[in-house]
Amino acid sequence: MAPVVSGFSKLSKTDKIKWLAEHHFNNDQNAIDTLVTYWNSDHGLQQLHDEFTENTISNYYLPFSVAPNFLINDKRYTLPMTIEESSVVAAASKAAKFWQTRGGFKAEVLSTIKVGQVHFTFTGSPKKAQQFFSLIKPELFSSVSHITENMKKRGGGVIDIELRDKTTEIDNYYQLHCTFETVDAMGANFINSCLEQFAKTIQSEAKKHNDFSNTEKDIEIIMSILSNYVPQCLVKAHVSCSIKDLPHTKTLSSRQYAEKFVRAVRIAEIEPYRAVTHNKGIMNGIDAVVLATGNDFRAIEAGAHAYASRNGKYASLTHAEIKDDTFTFSIELPLALGTVGGLTSLHPLVKLALQLLERPNASKLMEITAVAGLAQNFAAINSLITTGIQQGHMKMHLMNILNQFKATEREKEQLVKYFKTNAVTHSEVVSQIEKLRG
Ligand code: MEV
Repeated sequence: MAPVVSGFSKLSKTDKIKWLAEHHFNNDQNAIDTLVTYWNSDHGLQQLHDEFTENTISNYYLPFSVAPNFLINDKRYTLPMTIEESSVVAAASKAAKFWQTRGGFKAEVLSTIKVGQVHFTFTGSPKKAQQFFSLIKPELFSSVSHITENMKKRGGGVIDIELRDKTTEIDNYYQLHCTFETVDAMGANFINSCLEQFAKTIQSEAKKHNDFSNTEKDIEIIMSILSNYVPQCLVKAHVSCSIKDLPHTKTLSSRQYAEKFVRAVRIAEIEPYRAVTHNKGIMNGIDAVVLATGNDFRAIEAGAHAYASRNGKYASLTHAEIKDDTFTFSIELPLALGTVGGLTSLHPLVKLALQLLERPNASKLMEITAVAGLAQNFAAINSLITTGIQQGHMKMHLMNILNQFKATEREKEQLVKYFKTNAVTHSEVVSQIEKLRG
C-alpha cells in the first residue's frame, strides 16, 4: 500500500511521476515512459492542458472525430464528436446521410431558463418568512447588480427569485429558488456567484429585521448552488418522412419497419430496463458533441436522466409515431450548454470544433446536440430491429482487436478485406491472425 503523502500537489510533474513509480509501479521504467510519451512537445500547449485540472501527470487522449452530412433546419453541418466507443461516429454519419435526403432534421429551442437555489433554515413561522422575503426581494436583486451588469448587457441576468417553503419535508427548511438567463454561457460561475451573494444578503437583512427574534435573525445557510436539473432549458428535434421512404429489408416492408421501430421506442417508453440502454445510446451522440465543444457532459447526463424520470418513472427521451402514412421520430431533453467561457476559449480543439459548427450560439448548439442524440438513437434502433447491433459494432471493433494483437499494416489490410464478407467475432479474428502468422 502506498504511504500517505502530503504536499503532493506542490511536487513538479516529474517528481509526481517519480513518487508514483516508486509507490505504485515498482519503479517500472515502462510506466514512466508511457506517461511521458503522452506529453506534448509544445511546452505552451502542454502547460495549458496541465492547468485545466490539478495533479496532472500526462494527457489522456480521446479520438476527435467528425460526422458529416447533418442537415439541420436546412443547413448542412459536420459534427465534431469526441468519443472512445467504436461505431458511434459511423452510426451518426449513417443516420445523417439517410435523413439528409428526407428533409433533414428540424430542431427548436423551447426555453433557456437555468436554475439555482439557496438552501437555508429559518426558525420563525412560514408567514414571517414570506413577509420578510417580500420585503427584501428588491434588495436581493440589487445586491447582485455588480455580478449581473455584463450579463444584462448580453440580454441575460436573474429572471426571478422565489421563496419556497419546504418545512413540511424538513423542519425549518426553505429555499430561494432562483431562475437565470445566461445567454451563450453555460453560466455555472455566474449563477453560483449570484447565489452566494443572495445568501449573504438574506443573512445580513435578517440580522437587521425588527420583526425577528434573536433566534429568527440567525438564518443558517446550508448551501448555495446551481441545479443541473434544467427542465426549462429545453430543446426538441425531429425527423419525419413518408413511410414508403423508410428502409426495408428482405423480411420487413417499409411499413413493417415503421411499425417495428415505433414498437421498439414504445418499449423504451414503458420499460425502464430498456429505457436506460436506449437513452445511453442517445447520450453516445450527445456526450460526444458536448465533450468536443468543451461542455460539461456530467451536468448534461445528470440533467437528461432526471428529465427522463420527470413523470415518476424512468422513460425514453425519444418518441416515434405513425400518422397518416407519415413516420415521425422526435427527441426532447434539457441541454444547458455554453459557447462562451470555460474551455470554449481555452482548448484549441474545442475552439476548432466550434469553428467547424460555424460558431453557433448556445441555442444553436442545443439544437445541433439534440440532433446528434436523435440521429444516434435512430441508428441504434435501426440496427436493433434489423440486423442486430453486433454485426455493425463488431465490424467497427475489428480495428481495436487487430491493434490489441499489434497487427501490422499488411495484416490489417488482409484481415479487413477478409471480414468484409465474414462475420467478425473475437475468436474468428484471433484465429485469422494466427492463420496469417502461420
Ligand atoms: C451502445 O453503446 C448503445 C446501444 O446499446 C443503444 C441501444 O441499445 O439503443 C446500442
